[in-house]
Order: sequence, then C-alpha cells, then structure tokens
Amino acid sequence: MCGIIGISSNKSVSASIISSLKKLEYRGYDSAGIATLFEGEIKELKSEGRVDTLEQNFDLKNLKGNIGIGHVRWATHGIPNSVNAHPHSSHNVSVVHNGIIENSTILKKYLIGKGHKFKSQTDTEVIVHLITENLKTRELEEAITSTLKQLHGSFALGIVFKDIPDLIVGARRGSPLAVGYGPSENYLGSDSYALKSMTNKITYLDDGEFCIIKKDQVVFFNEDGKNINKKILELSSDEASYEKGDFKHFMAKEIEEQPNTIKTGIKEYVDKTNSEINIYNFPWNVNEINSIKLIGCGTAYHSCLMAKYWFEELTQLDVSIDIASEFRYRKNRFKKDNLYIFVSQSGETADTYAALDLCNKNNMKTCAVVNVIESSIARDVNFVLPIHCGPEIGVASTKAFLGQILILYILALKLASLRKEINNKNYKEKVKDLQNLPSLIEKSLLIDNDIQAISSTFNEAKGSMFLGRGFSYPIALEGALKLKELSYVHAEGYPAGEMKHGPLALIEDGMPVVVLAPRDSYYKKTISNMQEVIARGAKVLLITNKSKDEIVSENIWETIEVENTNDDLLPFLLTIPLQKLAYYSALKKGYDIDKPRNLAKSVTVE
Ligand code: F6R
Repeated sequence: MCGIIGISSNKSVSASIISSLKKLEYRGYDSAGIATLFEGEIKELKSEGRVDTLEQNFDLKNLKGNIGIGHVRWATHGIPNSVNAHPHSSHNVSVVHNGIIENSTILKKYLIGKGHKFKSQTDTEVIVHLITENLKTRELEEAITSTLKQLHGSFALGIVFKDIPDLIVGARRGSPLAVGYGPSENYLGSDSYALKSMTNKITYLDDGEFCIIKKDQVVFFNEDGKNINKKILELSSDEASYEKGDFKHFMAKEIEEQPNTIKTGIKEYVDKTNSEINIYNFPWNVNEINSIKLIGCGTAYHSCLMAKYWFEELTQLDVSIDIASEFRYRKNRFKKDNLYIFVSQSGETADTYAALDLCNKNNMKTCAVVNVIESSIARDVNFVLPIHCGPEIGVASTKAFLGQILILYILALKLASLRKEINNKNYKEKVKDLQNLPSLIEKSLLIDNDIQAISSTFNEAKGSMFLGRGFSYPIALEGALKLKELSYVHAEGYPAGEMKHGPLALIEDGMPVVVLAPRDSYYKKTISNMQEVIARGAKVLLITNKSKDEIVSENIWETIEVENTNDDLLPFLLTIPLQKLAYYSALKKGYDIDKPRNLAKSVTVE
C-alpha cells in the first residue's frame, strides 16, 4: 500500500505533489510527507496523519523546488508518526517507498558498520543509506542497479539526489509504479489516478525495471541497467468518475452507481438481440478444462465463493476457491486441466499477484476478473475479463463486488453453454433475465429510510451475525465484512446451518442477527435456522425478496424485501441492504467512511 508521487518540472512542484497525495490517500493515510530540491538542498517535511495535517503543520505554499517527491503511508515497519513518515533522507539522497524490504535488518547492520546513522524504525531507511553508500564508488545508474539487487522484498521507489539535482529515479519490484508525461514536466506515481489531473499519457514499469525522470526526458532501464524502450499508453479521460459529485462519500456514490455497473457489464458481455454471451477468443480449448480454482482476498474472495456456487450449479466443473495469502505458501498440486481465475478490483493486491506468479511459473492456464485493466494482474494473465465499473475510491469495496460477481456469473453461464452442460432454452432465459438486473438493483436501492433506523441497533450491540445458506452464504460473509470494516462493530458471517455447531452459544438477548432468506430452494431451511436464533433472544433483521406468500414466522424484529428475480440473481439484490447497513452505521458513528481506520484500498504488501 502507501502512495508515492514524484515530479520533475520547470516550475515549482509542491502544490501538484500535495494535490496528487490527496488523491493517493486511499492507499494509505496514517502519515504524509514531501521532499523538494532547492538551491542544492533537500527540504523534507513530514507529519503524522492526513495530507491536510501536513498542510496545516507547514507553510507548503512557500516550499520551493522544481523537483520533488511525496508519500502517503500505511505503516508496516514502525508506528505511524512523523519520524517514520516518508520521505527518508541522508545528507545526499531522499527516498519514498511502497513495499517491504525483507532483508532490512541485515542491511541495517551492514550500513551501521559503514558509519551510517538511522533515525526511524522503518525498513525504507536502509534503501536511502544503501544508495548513499553505493554512490560513493559508482555512477548513478550503476549505483541504482546494484542497490536494487541488494534489496529483497517488494518496492516502488521515488528517489531524489542533492548532488544530481535535475532528476528523479523511479524503480519497481512487486509494487505498482507509473510514469506520466506532461508539458515541460514528467511524473512518477503509484497509479494513473494520482497523475490523472496532470496527464493521460502513461507508461507502467514492469518488475525489475527502473527509470530516470527529467523535466523533458524519461529513460527506462532493465534490472541489469541496460536501456529499454517502453510503450506510452493513452488513458481515457473520465474525470467525473473521480469526483464525489453531490454525494457525501465516495462509498455512497459507488453504492448508487451499481445499476450502472451492471448495465455496463451487460453491455460489454451480452448480445441482447441473440441472448448470447460475447466471450470468445479463450486462449485454451474450454473442453480441456476440468476444474477451476478461484483466488482472491477479502471482498474479492467472497466473489470467488459466490462464483463457486454458480459454477457448481451451472457446470460439471470441479470448483475450488482459495484465499491468495494461503494459496501462495501451500504445497499446491498444479494440474494442466485446471483454470486459475484471479479476482481483484485493483489488480495489484500483492498476495493475489504472488498466487498468479506461482501459477505462471508452473505454466498454468490463468484468467483475471479485474477492474483496473492496466494493472499487473491484468497484464500477466492469459485472459482478462475486465469489470469496467470505473474507479472505486472508497476503501470498502461495493460496486466492484457486484461487478466481479456479474462477470463471474456470465463466465459460468458461457462455460456451461460451450461445454453443453446447460440446455439452450435455459441458457437463453438466464441471459435474458440479466437484462432486468439493473432496474431491479435500482429499485432495491430505495431503502435508505428503513436501513437508517435499523443501523442504530447494530451500533449499540456488542456484536452481530449474518446468516445465509447456499447462494446467500457468500453475501452474508460480505455483509459482515462491510459492517466490521466501516463501523468497527464485531460482525461474523456464518452458513445458517452451522449455527448449532457452536456459534449459537454467542446468541444472547437483543443481539442483532441478519438472516438472508430469499425465497429460493434454501428458504425453508433458513427460516428454521432463523427461528432457532429468535428462540434464543436474537433481534432478527430478515432480508428476503418480495413474494405473494406471507412470511411464516413470528417475532421477526425487522424485515426488508428486495425485488424479485430468478434464484441465481438474488445475491445481487441481497447485497444492497447490507452495503447500506454498513454505510449508515458508520455514518451515525461519525467514522471516516471512505478511509476506515487501519485499512488501505490497494494492498500491495503481504
Ligand atoms: C473490503 C475490501 C478488501 C479487498 C481486498 C482485495 O471492502 O475492499 O477486502 O477486496 O483487499 O482487493 P483487490 O480486489 O483490489 O484485490
């Protein structure tokens, strides 16, 4: 995580660095800092807290310099304070870093032995001193090449030098880094979003590469220090999707954007006239695939779990799922007839990328369902299925989740059809049903008043539970995750049928329990489980779909009814009230909804 920015220009850079840092805050927000070069000196200013605090603490308007670097931090080594904030500097070199240096302890010992003095608890400071040390005996490019070879772990770096005052060095291994091109200035940034207001011309560094950025020139190198050429991409300018508009929070905006997310996904992948799914050009023969493994983290993992239910329902494939951080270190049996699907909003999540890398090294078939199409995961798989939901800025994932499950559902349908595991009539009906989904989501969004009132009970409780069976179980997990990450309330998701095997012991008088019981094939079973928790004092919020049939249960505390559709698609609608529940709980508590404590949007460290 952490966000880095660097600008080399023919004019003062501090204002642009600060404005880019504000955009990068979604990557980390426990401290912030900036360093510029002016009249042969490096001026470094850092604060604990947000970029706003940095602005309040220092007179940044008068910070001069045409070259500078900036950083927003998500702490890994050392507590969030101004000393551990980046940039870190020696007398000659200043560095901003995103990633983790795994051999920092050994390097620190070596550097202390050489007389270097350390000020912070960070791993980053070893990079500063290592470059400083290497520059004693080497020219710049050689010093950078050998420094990078000495570092173990992951990094995206921005580096400025007191004695070489006209350039910035950028380097990447494992953490994302982009170069941007402007008029009489060039940029370095953790992502294109940070550079968006300055340029739409971008080059992404690949692992092992570094670059030298001057105001009128950018040169790229491979890990051996040899010059390389890189492509310049022109990104579409969709500035509006980066603004909150009339919404109080990005999360509120992103929840409301979901009908559009689904509309765009359908437009991209569904041929309405022929009720057909437009996914062609698979780089493998789909009949050679006998099993699927879906891999992701957090919300994206919940998308994988959701997809498992659909793939199993619609196809004969053997489907398993994995949390990326577990998969990457297990002894996996790689099978040629297995398709590995990586699910990620950012496409930069370190664990998910490492899992992909492992599969690539074993020559496996790989596919990605991602939002950021320029991301590392999107670039390194055999086949990409973008979700096209536009930038998701709120740290808690909402529209990307619906976007991911839509594409996974569409993929499951397509594979079922290609493998002749679904009859054509059924297939066409299911594809047709998709067309109504945006308007059903739109209607299901109109529940703000009900949810606002209910959310207080969740805030006041010691803890809460989210229960579901079958297709509703992954949604229960996602609902619980949303509540805990936004309103810091203990919330657990369980398969409703598991309660009696232990968790039922937690139920006490007045405990809020969300029961997801749409009128699908699991309905009756879930209602029985609901009665068991009501009998033990739980305050049940039942979420179901509209139906002519009455709900045959007493003592339900509150009920929310979403719209009606076929069983496969109900998970989309059930998700909406849970997102709103988490949003309003956090709003009532006055928490920072778009930047919950201890979290960051793009998790580029292990
Ligand atoms: C939760 C959330 C996270 C992410 C996870 C993976 O609301 O957003 O759990 O889903 O960190 O991130 P991506 O999808 O970028 O790989």
